[in-house]
Amino acid sequence: MEKILVIGALGQLGSELSSALKNIYGIQNVIVTDIREPEGGNIDGPFEVLNAMDRSRLFEIAEKYQITQVYHLAAILSAKGESDPKFAWQLNMESLIHVLDLAKEKKLNKVYWPSSIAVFGPSTPRENTPQNTVMDPNTVYGISKLAGERWCEYYHKKYGVDVRSLRYPGLIGYKAKPGGGTTDYAVDIFYQALESGKYECFLDKDTYLPMMYMDDAVKATIDLMQSDKNKIKIRSSYNIGAISFTPEQIAQEIQKALPSFKISYHPDFRQEIANSWPDSVDDSEARKDWGWQHQYDLTKMTSSILKGLSELLDN
Ligand code: SER
Repeated sequence: MEKILVIGALGQLGSELSSALKNIYGIQNVIVTDIREPEGGNIDGPFEVLNAMDRSRLFEIAEKYQITQVYHLAAILSAKGESDPKFAWQLNMESLIHVLDLAKEKKLNKVYWPSSIAVFGPSTPRENTPQNTVMDPNTVYGISKLAGERWCEYYHKKYGVDVRSLRYPGLIGYKAKPGGGTTDYAVDIFYQALESGKYECFLDKDTYLPMMYMDDAVKATIDLMQSDKNKIKIRSSYNIGAISFTPEQIAQEIQKALPSFKISYHPDFRQEIANSWPDSVDDSEARKDWGWQHQYDLTKMTSSILKGLSELLDN
């Protein structure tokens, strides 16, 4: 019987991944934690407040619930990290090391930790970015993800920790809002389109970035974690791709359903971050090793979000 600990479970990815894990493993077997209490105070199943940097509390919760797997999702993202780089480094790194130590010392079955396209930088080839290539991240978030990847591989090789990871592109979901990322425009745009009919984008209209619908991200994560151990050849982090588009292209897609929707562009400091990331990634290793396949293209994603978010806002 698996007992799963999710760290950062109230975040954009955490909330949707936790629901999917509860459906698979049972509500009582997924222990969700976050640095804050859930809004409204109610959540199905066990919940604990956990600051991911608090090592002894992490070990205490793991002991209390006899945890066998950890999904460590807490992080400070690319744009927010730039306002306090040392704190972002401290949180992103210390929390990972605590989780890897927990896995090593308590012999956990598996650990999941997300990396990101932010591990790439201005000298990285931009199109169809290979798994192994130049990596010169220039955000503290990207630096911490690249260092984290090295730590994951190190703990796997040295101590046999079964840690698995994906380099997510920008994740687009509407059920919980992201915070502090460079790709967040692609979530905000849907809220603004439905609420005010217009959106001022903080990236330029032709900024290509790799993106993925949340349903695909949850599926990728669970597929990876449920794969046979010996299929996982990469223990740093897998490139994983789905779709790439620009702000102009997603706006045009939204206009098919909402013809009066207007977009304007006012690039800020996040433009430089976006410019340092790939347009698209080569995820053939993930497709080959454990059968990754995405299901949502831009059109299918846009209609799914517009439908789901309209219902959410109506309630
Ligand atoms: N979505 C993240 C960000 O924009 C990238 O991993 O920071």
